[in-house]
Amino acid sequence: MKILTAPDELQQTCLEWRARGLSVALVPTMGYYHDGHVSLMRHAREAAQKVVVSLFVNPTQFGPGEDLATYPRDPERDAAIAESNGVDLLFMPSPEDMYSPAHATWVEVPELSRTMCGLSRPTHFRGVCTVVLKLFMLAQPAIAFFGQKDWQQAAILKRMAADLNVPTAIRTCPIVREKDGLALSSRNVYLTQEERAQAPHLYQSLRLAAELAASGETDARRLMTAIREHWKTYLPKAQEDYLTIVEPDSLAPVETLSGPALCALAVRLGKARLIDNMLLKTA
Ligand code: PAJ
Repeated sequence: MKILTAPDELQQTCLEWRARGLSVALVPTMGYYHDGHVSLMRHAREAAQKVVVSLFVNPTQFGPGEDLATYPRDPERDAAIAESNGVDLLFMPSPEDMYSPAHATWVEVPELSRTMCGLSRPTHFRGVCTVVLKLFMLAQPAIAFFGQKDWQQAAILKRMAADLNVPTAIRTCPIVREKDGLALSSRNVYLTQEERAQAPHLYQSLRLAAELAASGETDARRLMTAIREHWKTYLPKAQEDYLTIVEPDSLAPVETLSGPALCALAVRLGKARLIDNMLLKTA
């Protein structure tokens, strides 16, 4: 596995691969790998001849007071995991490599970025879109892989790619969970033992809503009430950031379910901000 830190070297390597007729798949990440990241690497491995993984804790997607400085990092372990999953090139730039002091260009999808996670993280998706488009320009991948765990992120990036005629197909992969249902996240390390024991109830509450929807409940407000009741009982210390039911592509709020709808949530549990989501299917 090749490890590069210089953006122009990544661009050059990928251009050479493409010139030789080799297809490139990209998996953008911020590192501290778990099985969610690994599943994206494996999907990429099956989809293209060359797999590029980027590992970059992107400062522009963190707001003031967020966890940029303490975001968990273990680049050596990450490199070993990437290599053992067949990654051809690991791109690990520094912030200075990615952003020149004169950097002044931003990519935004404002309408999709104002809701859900954007409510408490108003500049987050601007940072995500900007860095992902930069990575697309560097690796020029035929295909890029993102997790459904960050559903809003993937929906925004699909909109960005379509609107800007980006020649990269965006694929999303299912949420990988712990055995007890907690969605894997690099930020789960922030949970205390007690919080970790309660956290699977987020998944349980989504399951409850999915079951109610499958058995005929179409009123989004009643579904969300059932979820909040579950939290009151089993997650008394969780603070709701948001809970919503939206149309899966446009992220527009749904009042009455008439087809698949996405139920998405973010809560603060101690030091961690946890997100999760599930598609609700009607009866
Ligand atoms: P990061 O949080 O490291 O996640 C990298 C990719 O892994 C994202 O596409 C995310 O949705 C996916 N992922 C995380 N947890 C997952 C899980 N439990 N199951 C399936 N996929 C999971 O998301 C980012 O980094 C950044 O915003 C990035 C896109 C790299 C831009 O900086």
